[in-house]
Amino acid sequence: MRAYRLNGAAAPLRLVNETEPKPGPGEVLIDLKAATLNYRDTIVREARYGGDQRADLIPLSDGAGVIAAVGEGVAQERVGERVAVGFMPRWTEGPFSAAKQARALGGGFVDGVLAERIVVPATGVARLPDSWSFAEGAAYPCAGVTAWNCLFGGGGIRPGDTVLVEGTGGVSTFALQFARAVGARVIATSSSDEKLARARALGADAGINYRDVPDWGARAAEIAGGEGVDHVVEVGGSGTLNQALAAVRPGGEVALVGVLTGFGGEINTGAILMKAINLRGVYVGSVSNLAASLRSGVRPIIDEVFPFEKADAAFERLLSGAHRGKVAIHIAD
Ligand SMILES: NC(=O)c1ccc[n+]([C@@H]2O[C@H](COP(=O)([O-])OP(=O)(O)OC[C@H]3O[C@@H](n4cnc5c(N)ncnc54)[C@H](OP(=O)(O)O)[C@@H]3O)[C@@H](O)[C@H]2O)c1
Repeated sequence: MRAYRLNGAAAPLRLVNETEPKPGPGEVLIDLKAATLNYRDTIVREARYGGDQRADLIPLSDGAGVIAAVGEGVAQERVGERVAVGFMPRWTEGPFSAAKQARALGGGFVDGVLAERIVVPATGVARLPDSWSFAEGAAYPCAGVTAWNCLFGGGGIRPGDTVLVEGTGGVSTFALQFARAVGARVIATSSSDEKLARARALGADAGINYRDVPDWGARAAEIAGGEGVDHVVEVGGSGTLNQALAAVRPGGEVALVGVLTGFGGEINTGAILMKAINLRGVYVGSVSNLAASLRSGVRPIIDEVFPFEKADAAFERLLSGAHRGKVAIHIAD
C-alpha cells in the first residue's frame, strides 16, 4: 500500500510502498478514503509536539474509510461499514489514561492515517452517518471530539448560555456549530474581519477581531452581559488564557485545549480562584465521545480537499492560516 512518512521538518513528505497490514484478533482493516489535518500535525512534523517521537512516522490522526476485513472474533457483517477512526482507538470509553494517550495516532511512536490502509481495534471506530462524505467523517476524530468534549464533557452547556470561541480553525468552528445546535449564544474571535463575517453566517451572534481589540476578553464579557460568558473554548494557550479568564463569569468554565501560543507562560491564578473558575484541561476524547459527536448531525465545514498526491500542499494550506474549518486529503474513491 502507499503511505507517506515524515522526512524532517522542511523536506517534503516521503511517499513509500509498505507491506499490506493484516487485522489480528479483535481488529479491523480499514481502507482509508479521507484524512484531515490538525494543528497538531504541523508540530508533530516539526518534532515540537513534546516527548520523543519516531522520525519517519506516518502522519495525521484523523481518518475515515470502509472496513475491508476483520480479524478473529469480529463479526464478518462489519465488512463494508463506513467509519471514522478514533484519535485514540484504544480509549473506547471511561476515564482517560497515559496508556491510552500513548496510543494516539500520528504522534509519538504510533503511525497515523496518511496511508491507504490501517489496522485498529474493532472497538476503535465509530459509524458515519450514511449521507456524509468521508472527508466530513474524517473531520471529527480530533477537532470535532475535542470541541464536543469542551462543551459537553464538563458541566455541560444549556440553551441560552454564552460561549466564547477563539479563532476560526477546526476546533473553534466545530464548537461554534455544536453550541448553536443546542441554542447557546456564540461570540467568536478572529484575526480577520472576513472570517468573522463567515462565523456570523454560521450562526455566531457576535465577533471580535483580536488584532484590533487587544482586551478582547473584557469585550466578550461586555457583549455577553451579566457577569461574563459561561464557557470559553480556549485554543490559544498561554498567550490567550488571561483574556479567557477575563471573559468568563464567576463560576464559569474554561476548557483549555490549545497550545497555539506555546506550552508554558504566565497565568493569572488570582482570577481563577477569586472567580472560582472551572479550568479544565481537555485531551480530545474517547471513541464513545466520537460516536456521540457524530450523532449530533452537525456537518463539518470543509475548507479544501487536496488529492493524496498533494499532501504537502494540504500542510501548506493549514500553515498559511487562510483556512476556515478543516483541511482534508482525499485518499481513495
Ligand atoms: N487538547 C486537545 O485535545 C486538542 C485537540 C485539538 C486541537 N488542540 C489544539 O487546539 C488548537 C487549535 O487547533 P486547530 O486544529 O483548531 O487549529 P487550526 O485549525 O490551525 O486553527 C487555528 C486558529 O486559531 C486562531 N488563532 C491562531 N493564533 C491565535 C491567537 N494567538 N489567538 C487567538 N486565536 C488564534 C486562528 O484563527 P483566525 O485565523 O480566525 O485568527 C487559526 O485559524 C491547537 O493549539 C491544537 O494543538 C488541542
